[in-house]
Amino acid sequence: MQVVSIINYKGGVGKTTLTANLGAYLAQRGKRVLLVDLDPQSSLTFSLFAPDSVHRPQRTLNKWFDTFVDGVPQQRLSEFVAVPAEVNGEVVTRGGFVGLIPAHIELINVDRTLLVSAGMQNEQGDAHIFRVRRSLADGLADPALGSYDFALIDCPPNFNIITQTGIVASDHILAPMSPDYLSTLGTQTLFSSIEKFAREFNEQAAVYGSPYKIAAKPLGVVFTKVEYRLGHPTSAHKYYMEYVQKSVPDVPVFANTLRDHAAFGKENPHGKPAILRLKPTDKVYVELMSMATEFLNRTETPTRKKRAVA
Ligand SMILES: Nc1ncnc2c1ncn2[C@@H]1O[C@H](COP(=O)(O)OP(=O)(O)OP(=O)(O)O)[C@@H](O)[C@H]1O
Ligand SMILES: [Mg+2]
Repeated sequence: MQVVSIINYKGGVGKTTLTANLGAYLAQRGKRVLLVDLDPQSSLTFSLFAPDSVHRPQRTLNKWFDTFVDGVPQQRLSEFVAVPAEVNGEVVTRGGFVGLIPAHIELINVDRTLLVSAGMQNEQGDAHIFRVRRSLADGLADPALGSYDFALIDCPPNFNIITQTGIVASDHILAPMSPDYLSTLGTQTLFSSIEKFAREFNEQAAVYGSPYKIAAKPLGVVFTKVEYRLGHPTSAHKYYMEYVQKSVPDVPVFANTLRDHAAFGKENPHGKPAILRLKPTDKVYVELMSMATEFLNRTETPTRKKRAVA
């Protein structure tokens, strides 16, 4: 399984929309995809289960974190996978599958409780935090999850400890970005912060004698919500796409982009990502298809195998 964190600490840039739709589309293409909702806002969960649905899953990620004792989960992550019926109804005939580790608003308190129980300051606290940071990686190494091709982790718009568990677990980092002034400010900081965090984590791993190292590489920036005029991106959006390429020259930028399209902004009462409701001839469907092909090509590069240990 390849693990990809979809991350940007800027809010509203299309992380969740991309995660849900890329995941559903990859499943439509026959892949087995595990979606992981790390955000208390639970938007990814609501893309697959309507908030008022009687089928809304009860075993959510915060409940998994609640089982932790000294930073170590007492239950297997695979026990928390929900199976969204609507999306799977559309993809199983092609051999694809979507599983979801759902979130709940209560996840908002987990950062605090994990840190409080760590005692924060002392060495014991550091070791505890190290174990928590590694927990999702260990959870995803559960053999019961071994049949998935991809895990796509939808990160919240921050860099807190829960987001850090996503980075630690990942082989790749995918950063959606809306090509506008505010969304693209701090692009360099985003990647340098992840790199710095990985370096520090790996140093700590050496201190604790853990062979587990962060292996996450930037898969790339992907532009979303691109506005078009007369068949081309608006000049403002074109400017910010070029600006991002220049500001992070070492980070790949996806050639394929996703346009601003009303289908993605709509309410989703049926638990079915927009891509499954669009026609394969729709421009935006073709865009996501091309982006997914690029995603598959880029993730085909063999990644260094991490070692998750107990
Ligand atoms: N390509 C798109 N076209 C039109 N609207 C979009 C598109 N992508 C996302 N949106 C809309 O923009 C808003 C923000 O999208 P989304 O929730 O995916 O962003 P996010 O980065 O996950 O936000 P957050 O940081 O709050 O988690 C939503 O209302 C969503 O429907
Ligand atoms: Mg989101």
